[in-house]
Amino acid sequence: MRSRLSSLLYGAAAGARRTRRFHTCTVLLAAVLLLIAAPMWAQANPPSQAARPGATPATQAAAAAGYVGADTCKTCHEDIYTKHFESTPHFALLKENKHGCEDCHGPGQAHVESGGDPTKIIRFSQLSPAQASQRCLSCHQTSTEQSNYARSVHLAQGVGCISCHSPHHAAEPSNLMLRSQPQLCYGCHATQKAEFARPFKHRVDVGLIQCTDCHNPHGGFIERQLRTDAAGDMPICTKCHTETQGPFVYEHQPVRLEGCTFCHTPHGSTNARLLRVSNVNVLCLQCHTAVALNAGVPGLPTFHNQTNKYQACTMCHAQIHGSNFNEFFFN
Ligand code: HEC
Ligand code: HEC
Ligand code: HEC
Ligand code: HEC
Ligand code: HEC
Ligand code: HEC
Ligand code: HEC
Ligand code: HEC
Ligand code: HEC
Ligand code: HEC
Repeated sequence: MRSRLSSLLYGAAAGARRTRRFHTCTVLLAAVLLLIAAPMWAQANPPSQAARPGATPATQAAAAAGYVGADTCKTCHEDIYTKHFESTPHFALLKENKHGCEDCHGPGQAHVESGGDPTKIIRFSQLSPAQASQRCLSCHQTSTEQSNYARSVHLAQGVGCISCHSPHHAAEPSNLMLRSQPQLCYGCHATQKAEFARPFKHRVDVGLIQCTDCHNPHGGFIERQLRTDAAGDMPICTKCHTETQGPFVYEHQPVRLEGCTFCHTPHGSTNARLLRVSNVNVLCLQCHTAVALNAGVPGLPTFHNQTNKYQACTMCHAQIHGSNFNEFFFN
């Protein structure tokens, strides 16, 4: 394990030296993350299957042989080279004095000498999602965006990098995407597609905001692959809805303690304001009961008889997320 780890780290460091965009500090961060993630990775991928990606006898032979260079590949795969490599961001590998094709497909000498035996080169179609992703991560692990991939729900469910990206056949100009959002995600997430079709929703379908504003499809530190607020422990909501963030002189405890999704559905709802319930009072009465003080929750004053007038709680308690002026959240 130690040697595998150090070679990974070395690989990451070497990648960073040659890649302007990946900073040294990110590498250090990634190194720390790797130290944490590597045992988990190893657990999820027993060495026999995944320690050496693509370790079939054929690819082991390829690994033992040398690199031939992208120009050699071009002689037989001109189409791929000129139409599906030269114009992609990975062409930068050659400018950075890396191998190019062989950075992903492994050393190609055995493949070339055999006149193109496909079993003597790494074919992504023959790799498991974990193996294929590990090849990509040998460079991309250093980016904070991708560094949690090993522990993402996506990888655990067999969704690898090339389920969403294609180095040669991307349909979208940016980020080498197979499809653009949200269609890419809807392809596997039909339930969420239905949620975003409800009357009240975050308008993802017209591109006002994107799935990846709230989620990192490459995994993250909190559940549901959610991106976090600046403090790093709550979902990202307050980044856009800054007025709900506080700190307030008079806090409404559930906003901080239970979180936004206690009262709101994040995707779509049949209720205005994305509320989980159709009548606001039902929401509030879950905690505020007739009992004067119940487990720290103030009860309803007796004059709050639930006639129409007192059902619309937020007509009066308008600053429901917290207030700097009024302990009852009137303004
Ligand atoms: C002498 C000609 C030749 C050279 C040089 C060559 N290839 Fe190939 N390659 C072939 C042939 C022929 C096939 C089999 C094509 C097929 O089965 O459709 C092939 C297949 C492949 C495949 C598998 C394609 C699949 O269908 O999954 C990959 C990947 C590949 N080559 C990559 C490379 C890379 C990378 C290089 C440079 C290191 C390279 N090739 C150099 C001739 C060559
Ligand atoms: C960034 C990693 C990467 C680089 C660099 C790369 N490939 Fe690929 N290659 C892949 C992946 C992944 C696939 C599987 C198809 C896909 O997802 O696009 C693939 C598929 C192929 C195939 C199978 C046929 C096809 O069109 O899918 C061939 C042949 C091939 N690559 C050759 C090459 C050659 C030649 C080069 C250099 C000019 C090269 N590759 C550079 C990752 C890479
Ligand atoms: C479930 C789909 C999905 C999977 C799986 C996935 N990606 Fe992505 N990736 C995306 C989307 C969507 C974006 C665009 C992100 C954005 O707009 O914020 C992206 C962006 C990127 C970028 C561009 C810049 C950035 O934001 O970092 C890189 C590099 C990248 N992905 C690499 C990878 C690698 C490597 C893997 C596998 C370890 C992978 N991705 C797996 C969906 C995916
Ligand atoms: C040898 C290192 C290396 C490997 C292996 C590698 N990449 Fe990359 N990747 C790069 C570099 C370098 C760039 C260009 C970064 C830049 O433009 O700043 C890049 C860019 C990207 C981008 C961003 C494209 C954009 O529009 O900004 C995506 C997505 C991506 N790679 C996905 C993958 C996937 C998927 C794999 C595995 C099949 C992979 N990479 C394998 C080095 C690598
Ligand atoms: C406004 C932020 C936001 C946007 C935009 C968003 N999500 Fe979510 N998503 C969340 C939150 C928050 C949760 C957790 C919900 C919970 O815990 O009740 C979640 C949960 C999920 C889940 C897990 C569902 C479950 O029942 O466990 C999936 C899958 C998902 N989102 C996919 C998507 C897809 C696909 C898109 C884009 C089409 C998207 N999300 C857009 C915030 C968002
Ligand atoms: C190739 C299929 C596929 C694609 C494409 C895909 N996902 Fe997923 N995703 C899955 C599977 C499988 C799961 C695990 C089962 C589930 O929760 O539905 C999952 C789970 C999730 C979860 C829930 C994580 C959790 O903790 O339960 C979120 C959030 C998510 N995906 C967001 C996205 C977003 C955003 C996109 C588009 C950028 C996307 N997915 C694209 C297959 C996919
Ligand atoms: C990337 C920015 C962004 C993020 C992150 C975000 N939202 Fe939103 N939200 C918006 C925008 C923009 C609208 C207005 C939508 C419209 O007009 O269609 C909105 C609307 C809403 C509404 C309805 C407001 C109304 O007047 O009807 C609620 C409630 C809401 N968001 C809650 C949340 C919650 C909860 C989260 C976290 C899970 C969240 N938002 C994350 C941008 C964001
Ligand atoms: C205790 C329940 C509750 C919690 C927790 C909660 N909200 Fe609300 N929120 C409401 C109610 C009720 C409304 C409707 C107010 C009205 O009727 O005008 C609302 C309205 C909104 C609106 C619409 C604009 C406005 O201010 O009227 C946004 C945006 C919003 N909430 C975002 C959030 C975010 C972001 C969080 C987490 C930081 C959050 N909410 C937490 C109950 C809650
Ligand atoms: C998850 C439980 C919960 C829900 C749901 C909830 N509250 Fe509260 N609320 C509390 C707690 C706990 C306090 C006391 C601590 C504090 O002031 O934040 C409180 C305080 C208050 C106060 C201030 C009382 C005082 O004496 O300072 C008002 C007014 C209030 N809530 C109204 C509402 C309204 C209106 C709703 C529905 C939109 C609602 N609450 C939903 C738990 C809840
Ligand atoms: C017509 C305006 C109005 C409506 C509607 C209203 N309230 Fe009030 N609420 C008040 C007033 C006035 C007070 C008392 C403030 C005081 O004691 O000075 C109060 C006080 C409270 C308190 C604090 C009790 C305490 O002892 O600390 C809670 C909790 C509360 N309301 C919850 C609700 C809930 C839940 C609803 C909806 C079911 C609601 N209110 C609807 C005006 C309203």
